[in-house]
Formats: sequence, C-alpha cells, structure tokens
Amino acid sequence: MKNKLRSQQWFWGANETGLLHQGALRAAGINMDNYHGQPIIGIANTWSQLNNCNMSLKLVAEDVKKGVIAAGGIPLEFPVISLGEELMKPSAMLYRNLLSIDVEENLRAYPIDGVVLLGNCDKTVPGLLMGAVSANFPTIQLNAGPKQVGIHKGQRLGSGTDLWKYWDELRIGKIDEKEWQDIGKALSCGFGACNTMGTASTMNGIMEALGMMPLGSSTMPVNCAERTQASIDAGKRIVAMVHEDLKPSDILTKGAFENAIRMLLALGGSTNAVIHLTAIAGRLNINLFPESFDTLGAQIPCVVDVQPSGTKLIDEFHEAGGMPGVLARIHDFLDLSVTTYTGQKLGDLITENIKADETIIKPLNEAICMPPTLAVLHGNLAPNGAIIKVAAASKDLLVHTGKAVVFENYDDMLDRIDDPNLEVEATSVLVLKNAGPKGVPGMPEWGMIPVPTKLQLLGVKDMVRISDSRMSGTSFGTVVLHVSPEAYLGGAIGLIQNGDSITLNVPDRKIQLNISDAELNKRQQAWIPTTPKHTRGYPSLYIKEVLQANEGCDFDFLKPKNAEELKFVEPIVGRS
Ligand code: FES
Repeated sequence: MKNKLRSQQWFWGANETGLLHQGALRAAGINMDNYHGQPIIGIANTWSQLNNCNMSLKLVAEDVKKGVIAAGGIPLEFPVISLGEELMKPSAMLYRNLLSIDVEENLRAYPIDGVVLLGNCDKTVPGLLMGAVSANFPTIQLNAGPKQVGIHKGQRLGSGTDLWKYWDELRIGKIDEKEWQDIGKALSCGFGACNTMGTASTMNGIMEALGMMPLGSSTMPVNCAERTQASIDAGKRIVAMVHEDLKPSDILTKGAFENAIRMLLALGGSTNAVIHLTAIAGRLNINLFPESFDTLGAQIPCVVDVQPSGTKLIDEFHEAGGMPGVLARIHDFLDLSVTTYTGQKLGDLITENIKADETIIKPLNEAICMPPTLAVLHGNLAPNGAIIKVAAASKDLLVHTGKAVVFENYDDMLDRIDDPNLEVEATSVLVLKNAGPKGVPGMPEWGMIPVPTKLQLLGVKDMVRISDSRMSGTSFGTVVLHVSPEAYLGGAIGLIQNGDSITLNVPDRKIQLNISDAELNKRQQAWIPTTPKHTRGYPSLYIKEVLQANEGCDFDFLKPKNAEELKFVEPIVGRS
C-alpha cells in the first residue's frame, strides 16, 4: 500500500516533513490519528459572492464530502478563482485560462489524488476541466443547476434572451423605464445558472455528454433532493476512480469530444462551446476545429425546444428528460464505445428507458432546425475560420451580399449605432472590429451588434453582423463570430472599409470581402498595429500568449506541443 497514491508521499514516514504535513491537516480539522493512506480528494470550488450563479456550490461541496467520507476518502475543499459572467469585465473569458492554471497548479502542488470540480457559470465549467485535464488526475465535474424562473406580467422570463428582447423594446419605446426596472427585478431570481440554453447550460450538458458529469444532473434544480443525492454519489465514485486510476485521458477521446459536439448541435447550444471544446481537446493534443464541427454540423439537427433556438426554459427541459433524453434522441449518431467517469461505456448508460418527451425533445424528423445548425465559414475575410449559429439566424439572410457599415471598436459602435445620421440600410452588413482575443483583450460577447434603432422602428429585426468577437449563448441573429485572424493581428476584418461589399453564403460556407487580392494586399501593407493597452500584469501576459479562436483561445504555453508535454510533471515532495 505504501506510496501507492501520490498523497502518501506527503504523509507517510516519521521524518520531519511527514510530521509537518500531517500536522497541517490536523490543524485543518482532519483526524490524522486514523490516517492509513486513504485517498485525498480535492474539491475545487468556484463559489464566490461575486458570482451569484455559483453560490449554491457551498451546499454541493458539503454533499460531496459526505460521499467521499462514506467511501473511505478524505475530502479537502479548496477555492479557485470564480468567473462570474455578469460582473467580470471586460469578460470572464479573459480569466478562463487563469482558472485552468489555478486548478492545475493546486493539483500539482498539493497532496491530492482525485478531484471533484464545482462550477456552474459559463467560463467556470471549461476552465475547471482544462486544468484537471492537464493534471490528468481522476476527475468528476458537478454543477449547481439552473436558477428559478422569474415572472413578468404572467410571462416566464428566459435569462439573457428576454433581457435582449426587452432592451430592444425599451430602445424603440415599446416599454417604459418603470417596466424595464420591473423586468430587471423579475430576472434576479436567486442562485443558479441562466435558465435558457446559454453557455452554462450548454457547457454543463457537454460535460454530461463527455462522460465527466453524472447523466441528468446538470439540469436538476438548485438545492433539490435529487441533486443532493447526485453529489453524494459523485463523492463516493471519485474515491473508487482513484483506486481504479481512471483518468480524464481515459475518458476524453476524440470519440467523446465528437459526442459532445453532437450534443452541442442537438441542443442548439452556445457558440462559445466551439471555443471551449477546441481548447479542452487541445490540452490532449486532439484537433477538432474546423473538421469535426463542420462535418457534424451538417448531420445533427437541433431537437431541443429551449430558448434562444426554441421557446421553453431549462426547468421544462429537465422535466422532459434533460440531457440523457437528448442523447437518447441522437443515439444512432453517437460513439457509444467511449468510457464515462462511471467506468461504464456511454452505450451502457443510454438505455431504452430514458425519458425524452417529444413536446420539448423533438423527434429527428420534427426538429427545431434541420442541419446545419452551426456552420464553419472560410474565405478571404476569415482565412482561419469563423462560425455562425444557423439555428439562431434568419433563413432569408443565410445567402446575402451587402455594404459594410464599419465600427472600429466597441466604443465607436455604442457611440454611433443609434445615431439618426448613421448611413445604414436593412441590407447593410454591420462590422465590429477589434473585439477579438488579443484586441480587447478577452474577446467579450459583443458580437450581437444591436440592430440600429432607426431600422428597428421600420420593422427590421435582424441583419448580417460580423465580428472577431463572441456572443452570449442566449443571443440570436444572423451573426458571424470568431473571425480569425482578428483585427488586432492585421486580419482582413480589420481592413474592411465602409461601403465595401461583403458576401455571406452559409450553404457554400463562405464569408468573403468582395475586393481584389491586390487591394487587400495594399491595405495589409498600409496596416498599422495597435499599441497594446496593457504592458504589465496578467492582461499583458494574456495578449502575448493567447491563441486565436480557431485554436480555442488557450495560452500557447499551456497547450502541449508533443507527447512529451502531455506528461504531468510532479513536484519534489521534500522540505518546502
Ligand atoms: Fe452565470 Fe449565465 S450569467 S450562468
């Protein structure tokens, strides 16, 4: 038994470091008199009062501890940086890689044998897993669930999606300031993730599809009996995983990632998942972008009737069968041979008894949106790719040519979008530059450029919009995102001028700036790089190291370059 587990290096032995290390845990309230080499389970918690979506994770952690103790392990909870989508600026995305470093380095430096990751809000979910994948310790991921549904004038409000809708109504005078404030209060309805198919719901569902999260758990309501039991069971299971040495690299194969992409498409999920899945897979030297997204995007329909692609909210989706119901619906497309955290194959878990209520989880031939629900675009405007969520776009704009109305950056867009003198028509193509990974930095969700008020008053609901930015999973519209390379690097999007003709052709997967190569070259020669705003601190490191959207916006130094760099380097466990 001696030194079988990595944590035992810290606590075995009567020398001065063994005594010191045991004393540190005694001081933390652990009875080390009973220590006989049990697995130490870390519980990485993104709880924070700065992140209301994650606040019930304290309760989840206590339940996980009960399960770990019942299975004979020692649970140790530790904090990691919490990424609150609503309050962090310019974007929680700026800190996703920092969270991954936080997790990886806690796992490296401390006596931990396996880890339960607790996240909920958008970026916490991929950030946690990226770190655990790099450490490659036995891992289970849990979330906290969706928030309650707020009611306004008898209408159930969808997080994000209804906010954007009522914001547009306020801008054109359809609702007044008092009603706007009432809506704000109704939307603030307690702890939990957005109750629509935003990035959090999408990413948590993807964790289920990847085999890293208990099936059916991600949509369970916050603080309910079934969630309590799922958390206790996960605590028991992680101890067994340590004994079995079942690691992320055993679970997260290319087949598992492609199942996760199928889940993303069937959900009509957030475009952010494209970046996150690319980054998580990148930590294992697995390439997904663009081929896997493009190929699968042409096969899998959106079958889930949840906002923003559909009409319902996550509580109704849960009752209809949740994520297991979706997997059952797309069963024939899945790689069922992949292993899950349970040790069982996915195919053993997707049984005929799984509920999939057809009123919300639609049959394939009655899908909400037929394929492609997501398309990868290329062309001289995006040589390294761009994406569009077809499920959230207007069908009549999927093949469109229009004249560019260019905003140099976010402030310029805010200043001029509602200017009555802005020269814009319903057929124009709105372009936002300098909103990419390095340009801001952090690639905020600015891609759903508002339709100018003067056009909204004429009844225009949607326009083609293009940026090197992202958009919220709760957003909608004919929005081309993640244009790569970004404007900050001299990408073609930064060279577009007002009045240039742009063509979007989704069936041909094309996004094209209709100028000659000679003219594009001339503009590239004349391009002047922007001086970075940050010359020190973490944002400066981010600007230097962050990769483009087509590589998942990971840091260059975090992505392994070869098989050797996939190996996790352990610390020397001696005197500190
Ligand atoms: Fe946290 Fe949506 S803002 S989950």
